Amino acid sequence: MSILNKMFLITGGAQGLGKGFALAVLKRGGKVILVDIQKEIGEETENEFNKTYPGQSVFYHGDISDKFMMNYIWEDGEKKLNGKISVLVNNAGVYCPSNFIKTMEINLISLMQTTYISLEKMSIKNGGNGGTIINIASSAGLSQEVMLLIHPNPIETIPYCVSKSAAITFTKSLALSNILENDGVKVAAICPNAVDTPLVTGNKTLVNMLKSLDVALLSVEKVADDFIQLLEDLHNNRAKSGDILLVGQVAKYVNTPQYELPDTSGKI
Ligand SMILES: NC(=O)c1ccc[n+]([C@@H]2O[C@H](COP(=O)([O-])OP(=O)(O)OC[C@H]3O[C@@H](n4cnc5c(N)ncnc54)[C@H](O)[C@@H]3O)[C@@H](O)[C@H]2O)c1
Repeated sequence: MSILNKMFLITGGAQGLGKGFALAVLKRGGKVILVDIQKEIGEETENEFNKTYPGQSVFYHGDISDKFMMNYIWEDGEKKLNGKISVLVNNAGVYCPSNFIKTMEINLISLMQTTYISLEKMSIKNGGNGGTIINIASSAGLSQEVMLLIHPNPIETIPYCVSKSAAITFTKSLALSNILENDGVKVAAICPNAVDTPLVTGNKTLVNMLKSLDVALLSVEKVADDFIQLLEDLHNNRAKSGDILLVGQVAKYVNTPQYELPDTSGKI
């Protein structure tokens, strides 16, 4: 996929992985609209980007759970950067052990809401140009064992694991349903292992847990390279809609478990 002049909307783009994805896009001549709830850090990132890539990015201070704000940001961002968004990256996320409602609201409900907004805007059926949606889930959504067996207080990790596994299910469900048929939209998810970002380094328990396992944190740049590879794979049909990319030291597409369908031939 040529990223040159393509426009991306990246949620949670002020720091961490979102900022890394944005930089990878800018380096390849793309444009980025960033949305983040952290105003100062977002503005610093925008200034930093504008020094090297003037006029190629814009930052909005906003909360992804606000549907009206997200609609506004989509439309205003397209006007400011003069084009149409072709890739949505649902990256904003929280690890918030004490608040399972907030965890589900940001990591799942808002991700779904922003996806539905993007489908309305990008769908060829609605006069859009089609596009791609990349959901940032987590390896914790694919396999809960590590988080639950090693964490000193496993119950804390449940909301995060549930939200990320639901984001994977949402990605696969969208691809399997006929929602995307004739829409010209592809969807895929990335499931990184632990990455060196404030989400991890700001949480002492997580840092100690990972140290005790001797886990080397992935760099943001490594995950961003795999993100670009996923976009290329989707474009060249080496990956398909609904694919899940697990990113460890090596990245690989993984199958989520398939179960036999119940026998519905008899009476229910
Ligand atoms: N760091 C890891 O080890 C790791 C591993 C797997 C998956 N992930 C996922 O990657 C994504 C990015 O995480 P990160 O590690 O870069 O963390 P991070 O905390 O550095 O970045 C997340 C960003 O999302 C923003 N955000 C949170 N709630 C928001 C809201 N309501 N509206 C707008 N912005 C909001 C934060 O302000 C922050 O800038 C998350 O979805 C996270 O769950 C991270």
